[in-house]
Amino acid sequence: MDQRTAIYINGLNVNFGGFAAITNLTLELRYGETRAIIGPNGAGKTTLMDVITGKTRPTSGEVYLDGKLNLAVLGEATIARCGIGRKFQKPSVFEALPVAQNIELAVRNGQGYPAMLASRLSGRQGYRIDEVLDTIGLESVRNELAGVLSHGQKQWLEIGMLLAADPKVLLLDEPVAGMTDQETSRTVELLARLRSPDRAIVVVEHDMAFVDAIADLVSVLHEGQVLREGSMDTVRNDPRVVQVYLGR
Ligand SMILES: Nc1ncnc2c1ncn2[C@@H]1O[C@H](COP(=O)(O)OP(=O)(O)OP(=O)(O)O)[C@@H](O)[C@H]1O
Ligand SMILES: [Mg+2]
Repeated sequence: MDQRTAIYINGLNVNFGGFAAITNLTLELRYGETRAIIGPNGAGKTTLMDVITGKTRPTSGEVYLDGKLNLAVLGEATIARCGIGRKFQKPSVFEALPVAQNIELAVRNGQGYPAMLASRLSGRQGYRIDEVLDTIGLESVRNELAGVLSHGQKQWLEIGMLLAADPKVLLLDEPVAGMTDQETSRTVELLARLRSPDRAIVVVEHDMAFVDAIADLVSVLHEGQVLREGSMDTVRNDPRVVQVYLGR
């Protein structure tokens, strides 16, 4: 752990009743990297994101942000304000509102109550909305209702809503599930644009071609533990990884 460590997880255990979803897990995420978390259904990938974001409180263990703040004892809203953004498996955008207004709500939300209630946007807020729409490639549909977007466009919009807060840790749970091949390759390009020396990106995905295209490092989870960590080529050639996941 050093200056460039974004998240450091140490000795993490999560039990649901008697069932151990995560067992003594250790994981380090660094600023600037895009990390993929892969593994079979039920391996604990979503649970890990739930712990980082405060949705699930661990049974034991620490989750440090920037080497000091123990997220394991904080609530969801506090953790979000610390700069951790998370996209769930299912997109949840405001379908009855135009695309740009979805981003606008997220921008206002990040700036506290006075800004949220002000009737007019500040120049800076307006600029941020345009910037986000440009990043997610939805500038041309900014006035369409979010409900009429394609599945892929809804996923990008939800990522855009997270970007409004400029998160330093961005967690994406199965961002390309259900996407067409063309939408998936546009998501590869989007993730490249989201990279920053001041941001750690974590992606849970079952699409291995996608993982190969975006990840610097891959962590393979199995039964709540890290089975292997390394480049996609390293993990792909590990017989244990093939046995529990890739060879199914
Ligand atoms: N709230 C809960 N209560 C009880 N068991 C749970 C709870 N949440 C998750 N589990 C169990 O913990 C294990 C890990 O689940 P998790 O959702 O983290 O898996 P995952 O790796 O995300 O799988 P998938 O690839 O299917 O999304 C599973 O066996 C699941 O049934
Ligand atoms: Mg999951």
